[in-house]
Amino acid sequence: MPATIAFDVYGTLIDTAGIVAALREHLGEKAGAFSDLWRAKQLEYSFRRGLMQNYRDFSVCTSNALDFCCATLEVEMSAEQRTRLLHAYRYLPAFPDVKPALTKFRETGCRLYAFSNGKPDDVRNLLQHAGIDMLLDGVVSTDEIKSFKPNPGVYAHFLRKSGACGADAWLISGNPFDVIGAISAGMHGAWVKRNAQAVFDPWEIQPSLTVTSLVELFEAFRG
Ligand code: 2OP
Repeated sequence: MPATIAFDVYGTLIDTAGIVAALREHLGEKAGAFSDLWRAKQLEYSFRRGLMQNYRDFSVCTSNALDFCCATLEVEMSAEQRTRLLHAYRYLPAFPDVKPALTKFRETGCRLYAFSNGKPDDVRNLLQHAGIDMLLDGVVSTDEIKSFKPNPGVYAHFLRKSGACGADAWLISGNPFDVIGAISAGMHGAWVKRNAQAVFDPWEIQPSLTVTSLVELFEAFRG
């Protein structure tokens, strides 16, 4: 078992597609496409703000991306609907495999962290609402150094804050860019391929391990 594990939050522990139900109320069949564009744009804004060194926290990336989606997909949204959607984004559900897997990991004594672009309080609230906060040893946020994944500095910040060294630390993520960022910064990286159609970027860096769920990850580590 690795000594230290960093679990990405949005897309790995927490299901961002959980917003589709709230979107469906306003958008009907467009909800899935809207949710995918919202997520892609949210991440793009975080990458761009990181590169520009023009930091605003992740909730700003989320709300700017929502406005972009409304404009692009020609969706009229009242201020109240917008507020309600952004509120729903703060209470997304965990994927069903998360609780059973973290419960097993906990019994092994390895140190378990949530590691996210989200602000520390936002991440804590999210994990608490999803009923998984007590299964983790702590939260490390890129907000603490005012940058975003995959800046190598955020992975170095994780290692410093958790007291781990790269050789003993794994980043677990459903987001290929995060896995590549962690490996490039000297950690191990496991890709949680939550969707059978998902494609890993064809770069020179490939995941140290690929699994389809966190329960499968536990079995792979246990050997
Ligand atoms: C996270 O940091 C990238 O969404 C991802 O939680």
